[in-house]
Amino acid sequence: MDVQKFIEEQTAELKRLVGKETAINALSGGVDSAVCTVLAHRALGSQLKTVFVDNALMREGEPELVVELFERMGIPVEVVDARSEFLGALKGLMDPEKKRHAITRTFYENVFGKLVRDSGAKVLIHGTILTDIEETVAGIKRQHNILSQLGIDPEKEYGYRVFEPLKTLRKDGVRSVAVALDMPDELIRRIPFPGPALAARIVGEVTGDRLETVRKATAIVEEELRDSGAFQYLAALLSDRATGMRDGKREYGQIIVVRCIESVDARTATATELSWEKLNRICSRIVEIPGVSRCLYDLTPKPPATVEYI
Ligand code: XMP
Repeated sequence: MDVQKFIEEQTAELKRLVGKETAINALSGGVDSAVCTVLAHRALGSQLKTVFVDNALMREGEPELVVELFERMGIPVEVVDARSEFLGALKGLMDPEKKRHAITRTFYENVFGKLVRDSGAKVLIHGTILTDIEETVAGIKRQHNILSQLGIDPEKEYGYRVFEPLKTLRKDGVRSVAVALDMPDELIRRIPFPGPALAARIVGEVTGDRLETVRKATAIVEEELRDSGAFQYLAALLSDRATGMRDGKREYGQIIVVRCIESVDARTATATELSWEKLNRICSRIVEIPGVSRCLYDLTPKPPATVEYI
């Protein structure tokens, strides 16, 4: 791919689409939406409004970190607190597709839909990448960001058009665009993070408490594996429990799974051969999380497993 040509073409297309109007986009904290934001800001400057929706499913310190990283690039980001809307929509849901559906609907229909309407933006810029589209078409899973799956025609329903500048790229392509856009290393090297955020790593019901558990585990895994060079690493919370012992008492505790993978574009993946010492260290820190008494390492390649857990 000719990256410079790609950037020029997408920038021109964004300018043409938006004209003298305004555009809006949402940052999730992942590489795709970050690249999308920088690309759109380069094309549109102050005609672009970027929001970060706090959906309660974020990693520790994420809203603050994202705002700061973009501030350093001169791109203002508005944080919108929608935690109660998302937690309310997820209450009682166990089925993975229903959970994804609830998150997507809450995002587009309630939270973001309202933001877009209030902002008067004519174009919504979205960081969908080719892998999202391929997996949706293949029926593997509902992706967070495919509006057509919801049967939503945004122009008809909300009065805005959706533009997806990254839809021909896979993760490696997105990273090359990020480098060409001179984005800070800290953002480019961020590991992939899914649209449904930590909810993609909770088997069973997503509650405030369960989010807190997976959030703590995620912080440990990310800290321990930051220098591993792996493509992606994460922690997932299972819905089962297992018997453990703490302070001489039985504890029917929760189970955290650690996943660390090697991959080029997330279409296929294999588990990273982490050292026994590293695995033990991660395990001992994870079982210090209140209520967690077991930690497992996932060896499954993709396929048959996916990277995320729902
Ligand atoms: P899966 O779990 O589908 O993930 O093997 C492939 C890559 O895409 C990232 N990712 C998502 N995964 N829903 C997903 O299930 C999403 O909305 C999403 N957005 C990004 C995932 O983290 C992995 O790198």
